[in-house]
Formats: sequence, C-alpha cells, structure tokens
Amino acid sequence: MNAKILGTGSYLPEQLLTNADLEKRIETTDAWIVERTGIRQRHVASAEQFTSDLAVVAGQRAIEAAGVAAQDIELIIVATTTPDRVFPSTACLVQSKLSITNGCPAMDVQAVCSGFIYALSTANAFIRSGQVKTALVIGAETLTRITDYSDRGNCMLWGDGAGAVVLGVTQTEPGIISTHLHADGRYEDMLYVEGGGTCGLGQTPYMRMQGNSVFKMAVNTLDAIVDETLVANGLTKSDIDWLVPHQANKRIIDATAKKLDMPSDRVILTVGEQGNTSAASIPLALDTGIRDGRIQRGELLLMEAFGGGFTWGSALVRY
Ligand SMILES: CC(C)(COP(=O)(O)OP(=O)(O)OC[C@H]1O[C@@H](n2cnc3c(N)ncnc32)[C@H](O)[C@@H]1OP(=O)(O)O)[C@@H](O)C(=O)NCCC(=O)NCCS
Repeated sequence: MNAKILGTGSYLPEQLLTNADLEKRIETTDAWIVERTGIRQRHVASAEQFTSDLAVVAGQRAIEAAGVAAQDIELIIVATTTPDRVFPSTACLVQSKLSITNGCPAMDVQAVCSGFIYALSTANAFIRSGQVKTALVIGAETLTRITDYSDRGNCMLWGDGAGAVVLGVTQTEPGIISTHLHADGRYEDMLYVEGGGTCGLGQTPYMRMQGNSVFKMAVNTLDAIVDETLVANGLTKSDIDWLVPHQANKRIIDATAKKLDMPSDRVILTVGEQGNTSAASIPLALDTGIRDGRIQRGELLLMEAFGGGFTWGSALVRY
C-alpha cells in the first residue's frame, strides 16, 4: 500500500512587504537583498489572520483539488513553528474550522523549515501501515509575527503563507517512494527563537540566526541528503524531473540544483515572491508548479529541506 498525492492547495495573504518597504525600515538595499537571497517581496498575514486561518484556506483548496469530502479526511497533520497557541495544536483548530467532525486524529509537527517533509513522512507511514486511507498534510506559518524588523541580519528573509496536500492510498502507483529524515540538536545557538517557550518567558519572541554559519551548514547538508536519496533508490541525477526545494534562499537552492546537474527550468522557485515561509514553502512551491501546469502526473519529484534544530530531510515522490 502506497500513499499518493491526490490534490494540492495553497494560500498567501494579500499584504506585501517589498524590499523597497524594508529600505525604509532598516539600513539595506533592494540590490543587497536580491543578490544575497534572491528575495524581492514576501506576503504578510493581516492582524486578524493566524496560522490556522492560512492553513484552512490551503487545506480547503487541497481537499477540493483532491475531489474528496472533508469528512473523509482521516488524519490531519499541520507542520508549523508559529502555532496560533502553545495548545491546542493548530491541527485541532484547523479540524474545527474545516468542520471535520469525524473524530480523526489531528496533530502538529515541529521541525521548523523541514516540518513539511517530517509531516509528509509521518502521514505516509500512517497510510502505508493501513491506519488511515486519507490524510491532510499542511505546512503553514506566520513567521512575520516572530521577526525582529530591527535585525537586518535576517528580517528580510521571512514570509507568511500555507500549502497543503491531500494524500490517498494506492495499490498500483509508487506515490511517495521514500522519505529521509535527520536532526542534529547541537546547533541551537545558530538558529532559534528567543521567547515564547518556557525557557524564554518574558523575552522577545523573535528569531535569532547566525546567517553565515547556517548557510554553510545548509548547503553541505542538502548536498548529502540528495546523495542519500538517490543512492537509497538506485537512481541517478537525470532520473529526477523536478526539484521542489524548501525556499530558504536562492543561493542555497542554486547549490542543490548544481549538485543535481539540474537546469534552472526544472526547479520550482518561489522564494523571490514569497521569501522563506519555513514549513509552508515546499507545499506552496509544489502547488504553484502543479497549478501552472509545469509538474505533470507521473513525473518524479525530489523535495528537500533544511532548518532549525538542525533538522533536514527529503522526499522522493512519483506524482
Ligand atoms: C542572511 C544572509 C543573507 C546574510 O548574507 P551573508 O553574505 O552571510 O552576509 P553577512 O552576514 O556575512 O554580512 C555581510 C555584510 O553585509 C551586512 N549586512 C547584513 N545584513 C544586511 C542587510 N539586510 N542589508 C545590507 N547589508 C547587510 C553585514 O553587516 C556585513 O557587513 P560588514 O561586512 O560591513 O560587516 C545569508 O547568511 C543567508 O542567507 N544565510 C542562510 C539563512 C537561511 O537561509 N536561514 C534559514 C535556513 S532554513
């Protein structure tokens, strides 16, 4: 029994924060940001919108694209590092807002920018083991809420948004072929949120990052996960049709594409318009590539991510 992507959906808040807007707030330039990150703008949730609200719209669109009824969803997993509340989980809030009253399990997965890969892998395991037949997997973030706009070292990176997939069961198609998950918890100091948890009570709820060190770790680690995924499946680089990467930074994505000998027109790139939306970025990119017709049924997709923790992972999927 394999898990297959039945449908995808995504949502981006309307409000934009451009590099020109940032030029007015911090000492930076559009040229510097574009050269170092490839980012030109990001979407920002309104004051009334929380992570669950973004997740619900993306989820609704994925359910519609999958052609299933909301009540047929048997598992909800939301990958997020910006939950509405410490508890209840954002997944429980999404279940309620989608009016899913069948009592299906709902939980959050917290693996920062690798969160969607972790969530996809978890849902895949539930389906392969026969525990559920249909799962809603969402990556959703409101990172601009934990961004310190006086810290020019990282505030230009982050954006808000949500992406979702509905997984179903198949006995004839490969679907999700393999997933590979890793973590190394020794690097807390390089990328973390100051307040918000029980050890940061009273502190500002902002992200702190040693950008240069994170950059180097990300490139080397993603290099290794690409090799691991290809070797595990007896594939060569040319077998991959599409790279659907976590959208951290165009330079990091370019390095992975180069490693795969992948021309830029086989890479789904959204970072320029969306910034880094952490757990939301892969399903946002996936939905973009599917809805604009680039990604076709039967093609082989490599998704990969690296993020805080550090966590990293990949998923090889026959769409
Ligand atoms: C954040 C990042 C873009 C910074 O680029 P960088 O080339 O590493 O830049 P540095 O931090 O070395 O700083 C270089 C110079 O630019 C300056 N600078 C930093 N931020 C700036 C900004 N927003 N605008 C203009 N100048 C800036 C620095 O002060 C420094 O100046 P100095 O040489 O006079 O000291 C880059 O490190 C990066 O993308 N890292 C990975 C981050 C990431 O993807 N994290 C999420 C992982 S999921």
